[in-house]
Amino acid sequence: MTSASASALSGKARAAASAAIAVENIVKRYGDFEAVKGVSFAVEEGEIFGLLGPNGAGKSTLIRMMTTLIPVTGGRALVGGYDVMKDSDAVRRMIGVIPQALTSDQDLTVEENLSIYAKLYSVPRAERERNITEVLEAVDLLKWRDAQTKTLSGGMRRRLEIARGLVHDPRIFFLDEPTTGLDPVSRIAVWEMLNNLKKTRNLTMLVTTHYMEEADRLCDRIAIVDHGTLVALGTPVELKQSVPGSNVVEVQFNREDSEWQGRLQKLTGVTEVQSQSAGVYRVLTSNGSQTTTQLVELAASLNEQLTALSVQNTSLDDVFVHYTGRQLRDEQVKAVFTMPPRPGGQP
Ligand SMILES: Nc1ncnc2c1ncn2[C@@H]1O[C@H](COP(=O)(O)OP(=O)(O)OP(=O)(O)O)[C@@H](O)[C@H]1O
Ligand SMILES: [Mg+2]
Repeated sequence: MTSASASALSGKARAAASAAIAVENIVKRYGDFEAVKGVSFAVEEGEIFGLLGPNGAGKSTLIRMMTTLIPVTGGRALVGGYDVMKDSDAVRRMIGVIPQALTSDQDLTVEENLSIYAKLYSVPRAERERNITEVLEAVDLLKWRDAQTKTLSGGMRRRLEIARGLVHDPRIFFLDEPTTGLDPVSRIAVWEMLNNLKKTRNLTMLVTTHYMEEADRLCDRIAIVDHGTLVALGTPVELKQSVPGSNVVEVQFNREDSEWQGRLQKLTGVTEVQSQSAGVYRVLTSNGSQTTTQLVELAASLNEQLTALSVQNTSLDDVFVHYTGRQLRDEQVKAVFTMPPRPGGQP
């Protein structure tokens, strides 16, 4: 491209051209059903970009369109500067894809699984051996090179799939729920590995996940998708700051009192009071410590008993609830401080 035509590009087109992934008003329809309803975002080179959303939000559909597996109904997606519909071969050469389901062959060895892929991608024989060693080293499976895949644990098998997705040295890596179904220790191992890969291989990654804490720690930016629509986009910090209140105080009283909602609302810093169940409230506040101190003093002055109290920073869970009106996951692990029972009282 000449410099004259390059400078003639509009700001928007330039941004799209320089991005590793640019999705513009993309739509996917299955018959009458619109699974993706006009989503736009751009992923910069070297970013880890997270797609977060509940079941059926359209995450896998978005990934399938970006990786040329299903046709786009409307709008367009550019990957590495190539249109996924017009230049699908060029896109495929540039990307690695880890689908949601495990797809490595159980009856082959670790090396054989990688070798098949390297051949599929026409990696020259001389490079194949070296690439396989490098990717196995990167996912810490070098010792397992000759092991049957069926002897690997779930976490190791996930790592093998990640190695397989990298064996042709892609620039852009798509991972659909790489840690779902893994135990917490394996999940951490996979994410640490992804973070290392990003640094050492200068990869751009687009990852979907259900795990808020992982997305928070590892993604540079996050897009929240719900019902096929993009509802929020930003860095984890930006997203958390976009929700009113910076702390969440969770409190449980030993009995319900209709006055609590109003009393809590008046405490310093409080922006929102959510009634959870009888006697249980979530209080969003810009000043967690002051709100908590006042709350404890108020309860003592009224001779009311607190049965549980916890203070947390606003999390991506709160961001998710704020934008979608519901929890992403039902089960949530929270550090809740349970007050000791009063002597002689009920536990
Ligand atoms: N081939 C298809 N035909 C019809 N509808 C489909 C098809 N594939 C997906 N859908 C629908 O599109 C919507 C989005 O599905 P998708 O698999 O993209 O969700 P997801 O966000 O990846 O969910 P999960 O977290 O469960 O993996 C769902 O309502 C799904 O039922
Ligand atoms: Mg999915």
